[in-house]
Amino acid sequence: SRSIHLRFRRRFRLKFTHLATDGVARLGTLETPHGTVRTPAFMPVGTQAAMKGVHWHEVRETGADIVLSNTYHLMLRPGAERIARLGGLHAFMGWSGPILTDSGGFQVMSLSELRKVDESGVTFRSHIDGATVVLSPERAVEIQRLLGSDIAMQLDECVALPAERAEIDRAMRLSLRWAERCKRAFEPDLPSGRALFAIVQGGDDVALRRESARELVAMEFQGYAIGGLAVGEPQATMLAMIEEVAPLLPTDRPRYLMGVGTPDDLLKSVARGVDMFDCVLPTRNGRHGLAYTRRGPVNLKNARHAEDPRPLDPESPCRIAREVPRAYLHHLIRANETLGAMYLSVVNIAYFQTLMQDIRAAIAESRFADHAAEVTAAWTRGDV
Ligand code: GUN
Repeated sequence: SRSIHLRFRRRFRLKFTHLATDGVARLGTLETPHGTVRTPAFMPVGTQAAMKGVHWHEVRETGADIVLSNTYHLMLRPGAERIARLGGLHAFMGWSGPILTDSGGFQVMSLSELRKVDESGVTFRSHIDGATVVLSPERAVEIQRLLGSDIAMQLDECVALPAERAEIDRAMRLSLRWAERCKRAFEPDLPSGRALFAIVQGGDDVALRRESARELVAMEFQGYAIGGLAVGEPQATMLAMIEEVAPLLPTDRPRYLMGVGTPDDLLKSVARGVDMFDCVLPTRNGRHGLAYTRRGPVNLKNARHAEDPRPLDPESPCRIAREVPRAYLHHLIRANETLGAMYLSVVNIAYFQTLMQDIRAAIAESRFADHAAEVTAAWTRGDV
């Protein structure tokens, strides 16, 4: 298998080095054309080529190696061809590190009207100007090439749960056929060192999940995402699906759980062999006044913070969490000041990055299970 690994490296360049294992939890590095990602990794989400309210240098200072952006939003505005003319997404938005782009199918389903899915792709009305837009697997790959993303995702169809088995089955098989088409369209891009990841679908059905994973692994992608989770099912179902799928994926390829999740979801998914995550939770919740801390979440809208001079966490590596009084954060959020959203977004991105850094250190020292139990116990003591 070592020679297979070397052959892959020559052909695909994107290099995933699996440094250590602690139980099923994995420590690694992923080398992309724009730098190395330490895994397990959490990718903050900059949907529209912006981390809402946060400077890129601040994102970098939180310890984030890689960020996620969205094909769906950028293809509609300002347009992939325009971004390409302006030098690609890294130059356009001023983030020089690795970028992963989602393929658009998921956002079409949640954001656009009058959408239609057929064999050719997804047809939908733009939520911006009402224009009819077609997103095929080939176009999704082309857009991500124009953006210059380091990691592109296949076009897939994600079904919200609960759903009929027949519907989950149909979407999973369509996603398999689109995976094949994306792979073929991406082939000329392989020498660039950019990567294309497949997405396992299959809803909450164990047999469909297994079939999806097996078929995608046989096609040989540079990485494998687990999609179609955190879409309405209980956490136990999500974890059960990860437990089915992860053992079927090649150990020398990164595994990415899409759109997840809470700090608890991250700990439990790392324990089941996941390497990468993305979620809007730190930034979206921050904008709404919720701060994540080592001792659990703090809702700064609450009146109990109105005269509290203490910072969120005097021991946080994040300066804002260490220094800004809760009373001031409470005021900013109540007064709907932009600065409140900015501060809490940074605090929360930093919290998630510290969570991942501590996870990586624990895996390296073979104490991940104890570490996860300690982190969880600190949340539930309730002395925020
Ligand atoms: N983001 C969260 N879940 C999914 C999914 O299933 N597919 C895609 N493309 N993006 C996602």
